[in-house]
Amino acid sequence: MTAPDLPAELKAALDAKLHGLSRNDAAERASLISKTYRDGGNSGAIKTETDALAYALARMPATYAAVTASLNALREITPHFAPTSLLDIGAGPGTASWAAAEAFASLKEFTLLDANAALRALALDLGRDSTRLRELIYQRGEARALLAAAEPADLVIASYVIAELSDAERSALAELIWAKTRDTLLIVEPGTPAGYARIIAARAQLIASGAHVVAPCPHDGKCPLTAPDWCHFTQRLPRLRAHKHIKGAELPFEDEKFSYVALTRAPVTQHPARVLAQPAVSKVEVSAKLCTAEGLALARIPSRTKPDYARARRWRWGDAVEAEQADVKR
Ligand SMILES: C[S@@+](CC[C@H](N)C(=O)[O-])C[C@H]1O[C@@H](n2cnc3c(N)ncnc32)[C@H](O)[C@@H]1O
Repeated sequence: MTAPDLPAELKAALDAKLHGLSRNDAAERASLISKTYRDGGNSGAIKTETDALAYALARMPATYAAVTASLNALREITPHFAPTSLLDIGAGPGTASWAAAEAFASLKEFTLLDANAALRALALDLGRDSTRLRELIYQRGEARALLAAAEPADLVIASYVIAELSDAERSALAELIWAKTRDTLLIVEPGTPAGYARIIAARAQLIASGAHVVAPCPHDGKCPLTAPDWCHFTQRLPRLRAHKHIKGAELPFEDEKFSYVALTRAPVTQHPARVLAQPAVSKVEVSAKLCTAEGLALARIPSRTKPDYARARRWRWGDAVEAEQADVKR
C-alpha cells in the first residue's frame, strides 16, 4: 500500500518552487483562497503563480493523502487492476496523477484536464523532472468540453472537483466521465455531509448506468446510513515545514476527512465489510460499526475468542475486514 506523504520527487519540486517566494505573501494568499472555499467559492480565486503555489502548499498534501487512501482501498479489493492510462479531471496541480503514479507502476499515459491556467502551469513545472510524469498531457479548458473529445482511460479520477459544479453540471459530468472510463472511476470529495451527498448522488447515478462499487461499499445497494450520519474516512498526514508555515499551524500532522467512491465496469467478486468509525477496544471486546453486504451492523468481538479478538484489535476506521466470526447486531 502507498504511504500518505508526498513522494520525494514532488516534495523536491515544491521545494524548488519555494525559492524566491515570500512565505508571508503565500500564507496570506492561501488563507484568502481557503476563505473563498469556506464561503462557497471555488478555485477561480487562484489566478497567479503565487496563488497556485500557495494552494498547492496548503492543500496538495491533504488531497494527495485522501486520494492515496482511496486508491489503497480500491487496490485491496481489485488487486489485479493494472491501468496503463489515467484521466485526471479537474487536475489542479496534478495531485491525483502523482498519487496514481505511486499506486500503479503500470500507468504510462497521464492526461490531465482543468480550466485553471495558473494551476496547469504549476502542474507542468512540478512534473517536469519527474521520471513518471514528465510526459504528461495537460489540456486546459472546461472539463465537459475537453472530455467529449478525450480518449477513454483505464482509470479516471475526479478529486475534490465536483463540489465546484452545479447539480445539473455535476450530473452531466458524471455521465461523461463514466463514458470515458474503460475500467475504474474514483471520485473523492471532502468528508463533510455535503461532500458525502455529492458522492452518494454520483454513486446512484452511475450504478443506474451499470457501474459496480469497488470501495468503500461492500454492495451496490442504497447507502444504509441516514442523516445526520454520513460515510466518511480520515487520513493522517505529515505536515512539511512550508505546509505548517503557510497554514500558521504548529502540529507536525493533520487529519484529512474525505468521502469517496470507486466504481468499476465488471462486477466485484470480493465484498468485505467496511469499518465506518474507529472501533472501540476494551479488555472485554472490540466493537465496531460496519457496513456489510447485508447492511449496517455493530460487530462485537469478545476477548474470549482470542484469534478473532486479536485480529479485530488491529481494525482501523476505513479498513476492509472479514467479519463472519463477529457477533453482529443489525
Ligand atoms: C479543489 S481543486 C482540486 C484539484 C486537484 N484535483 C486536487 O485534488 O488537488 C478543483 C479543480 O477543479 C477545476 N475545475 C472546477 N470546475 C471545472 C470545470 N468545469 N472544468 C475544468 N476544471 C474545473 C478547478 O480549476 C480546480 O483546479
